[in-house]
Amino acid sequence: MNKTTSIIIPTYNEHDNITALVQRLAEALTGYNYEIVFVDDNSNDGTAELAESLKDEHPISVIVRKDKRGLASAVVDGLSHTSGGIVAVMDADLQHPPEVVPDLIKAIEEGADIAVASRYIEGGGCQGWSLTRKLISRGAIFLAHLLLPATRQVNDPMSGFFMFKKDVVTNARLNPAGFKILLEILMIGKFRNVTEVPFTFVTREKGESKLNARQQVDYLKHIYSLMRRTGELVRFIKFALVGGSGIVVNYGLYWILTRFAGFTPLGNTVTGGIISGNLAIAISIETSIVTNFLLNNYFTFADRNIRGIKALLGRLFNFNLICLIGGLIQIGVANLLTITLGFYDLIAIPIAIIVATMWNYLLNNFWTWRQ
Ligand code: GDD
Ligand code: MN
Repeated sequence: MNKTTSIIIPTYNEHDNITALVQRLAEALTGYNYEIVFVDDNSNDGTAELAESLKDEHPISVIVRKDKRGLASAVVDGLSHTSGGIVAVMDADLQHPPEVVPDLIKAIEEGADIAVASRYIEGGGCQGWSLTRKLISRGAIFLAHLLLPATRQVNDPMSGFFMFKKDVVTNARLNPAGFKILLEILMIGKFRNVTEVPFTFVTREKGESKLNARQQVDYLKHIYSLMRRTGELVRFIKFALVGGSGIVVNYGLYWILTRFAGFTPLGNTVTGGIISGNLAIAISIETSIVTNFLLNNYFTFADRNIRGIKALLGRLFNFNLICLIGGLIQIGVANLLTITLGFYDLIAIPIAIIVATMWNYLLNNFWTWRQ
């Protein structure tokens, strides 16, 4: 017989949805061992009371928190009240169809540590979404993929509908802000296999969505907090420090080459002088790219090291290409700011350096030192 699945359902004013939800779960999960853990944030429409009254016929427990602390933290609190070895999380408003739960169980039985009901894989989708909402959703996912590398293995890390083996979070210190509990689990939990199961996020028929601007700000705060807690912020600072060391190498080598090694200083027009001066610049740039590469490989991205000289050279090539394009971006931004927008050059150049550094960081993180 299968293990018990504990389904955590956060609720806030979902009175008109939970009877149907509980019934549809009961039908979909006939023959399965399961329990439902409602975590209600003191709804004022009688949600908790109604859930309590369904206890006689269904395996339900109800936790009521007196102060409203949000969806994701409700899930964390619900965890300590689960008895199953497998935990599911879903919304109460039927936008997450209960009929998908057996698919998630199957994925876990087949070996996944985390199974995500996904809108963004073949067979999944969103019903009745405006273009704006789609774009916001995609933008939010893009941001997570960009800044939190461990989320890249999931197409829909923003899904609030998923299942996991409880071991994944047993030793994790979950501390999510806002709505996105899956993001927290993907970044802080311990797991090997993640699977996605397609589902359609359907329209809400009853009650109102609680998503508002506050949650969007919370989302950004949550990403920042995860970057801090998982070392991604430190990584960025290391990358910036390495970049600073590159400037010293670049400048210092130019100085050595032109003052002590016989290269002609730039601006000197003796025969062959321009070529010699520019050669000194080119050697300095390339050397600083190589020293930056080595420092990033063994310091900034030490945790993503690979063996073998061939692989290392491949990475050096990628890094070189990205940095050269970064240089062009810096020139482009500096020109745009000064010529088109009238910025003072000493203001424009640091801005251009920041833009190019971001480019270098993100692209190299994504590609050169991809996980
Ligand atoms: N306990 C508690 N406390 N529950 C809450 C709170 C809260 O402060 N806010 C919302 N909920 C509950 C709702 O009652 C519902 O069951 C569920 O959390 C989702 O809330 P909705 O307001 O319906 O959210 P949504 O439909 O905009 O957002 C959903 O869509 C996302 C995908 O775009 C959420 O399910 C997300 O988890 C999902 O990722
Ligand atoms: Mn909803």
